[in-house]
Amino acid sequence: MNNTIFEPTLLSGIKLKNKIIRSATHEGMADEKGFPTENLKNLYIRLAKGEVAAIITGYAGIQADGKSCLFAMLMIDNDASIPAYREITNAVHEYSTPIIMQIAHCGRQTRSKITGLQTVAPSAIRDGFYSEDIPKELSEDGINEIIDNFVSAIIRVKQAGFDGVQLLLAHGYLLAEFLSSYSNNRKDHWGGSTENKYRIISEIFKRAKEQVGDYPILVKMNAHDGRKNGMKIEEAVRIAQMLEKSGCAAIEVSGGIMEDGLYIMRGEKLPADAAMEYNFKYKNLPGLVKTIAKPILKTFMKQPKPLLKFNLDSAIQIKKAINIPVIVVGGINNIDDINYIIENQNIDYVSMCRPFIIEPNIVSKFHKGTQTKSKCIMCNYCAIICEEKPLKCYYGKLP
Ligand SMILES: Cc1cc2nc3c(=O)[nH]c(=O)nc-3n(C[C@H](O)[C@H](O)[C@H](O)COP(=O)(O)O)c2cc1C
Repeated sequence: MNNTIFEPTLLSGIKLKNKIIRSATHEGMADEKGFPTENLKNLYIRLAKGEVAAIITGYAGIQADGKSCLFAMLMIDNDASIPAYREITNAVHEYSTPIIMQIAHCGRQTRSKITGLQTVAPSAIRDGFYSEDIPKELSEDGINEIIDNFVSAIIRVKQAGFDGVQLLLAHGYLLAEFLSSYSNNRKDHWGGSTENKYRIISEIFKRAKEQVGDYPILVKMNAHDGRKNGMKIEEAVRIAQMLEKSGCAAIEVSGGIMEDGLYIMRGEKLPADAAMEYNFKYKNLPGLVKTIAKPILKTFMKQPKPLLKFNLDSAIQIKKAINIPVIVVGGINNIDDINYIIENQNIDYVSMCRPFIIEPNIVSKFHKGTQTKSKCIMCNYCAIICEEKPLKCYYGKLP
């Protein structure tokens, strides 16, 4: 237990009881319209009871062609959803816990087989993982429509009683695709220089602020995407400075894109068994191919390192360049590391994803001192199987 970690703070007016946030985690608990279900409400109540500082929801879609191909994504693309979300925020607020909605457009990281619509992206560049479709390059009108739909979603998030909204600029989804020259080779004012690539985000901030004033708009951004001509920390630092100027309330620092497999959520071994059964790329392979491929993948596919605190160096560099709060996510799983990050590295908050899947009440265990480390074994079955089923901890066992 450490006093600084458990000291209350204000983040852009949002009251946080400690410095450990639940990072956005796709829950797969929406109904067929994309509205939140009772199961989702119950999960958030468990998190709130477990003393988490704030809950960031799984990503919610702002328009149909940007819907995830994972199972049962939340949608925030129409006003009819507001009462259902209002029930969620009321329930969570009973426990004096703030809740922030993450909103996103998946860009080329989805499948038209699932959405029924053409995938779109800044440029018509095929994604290395979701490679079934070549995305359509967005027109000027298409980009403006997306900006307006982000703004409408922000207005709805506020009306539904969320304490803030988080734009997903990380992990290779549409806004990250604009920011990275790896996926954006446009020659117009939406591509080229950092200012141009950032334009879509600056427009969302500008138009949203006209509508919602100083309502907290946070972001989760990539500090790097591991690509030769992609996002690098130097450019990410400049983008963080632009975000501060745009009026961003806080920056959560992450890295990586879906093409790189489990770079974003690292583990010791590739979860080959789960991938063979549940991932769209592998599950329909002939049985014999799977039998041969599984042990090869498991043994020889190199997994990214380090496994812990893997975005901390980037977060430190970003924090040095800006004056707004920084949240760091990625491989943070024990109280000693959290203490070190907050006390010694001048980072404002930490966030965790997988530790909350296995133990929604992990913060209260840390606070009471009954446990110092997450029980998560980083098998990453949760990340693979959420393509077909609601979120759950599998603890390395196939369902
Ligand atoms: C099952 C699962 C779902 C996720 N869904 C989201 C999401 O909706 N939005 C997001 O920004 N990141 C998502 N992530 C990434 C996490 O928020 C986090 O950045 C990553 O898992 C690293 O943190 P960790 O080591 O604490 O798990 C997801 C990760 C997992 C395992």
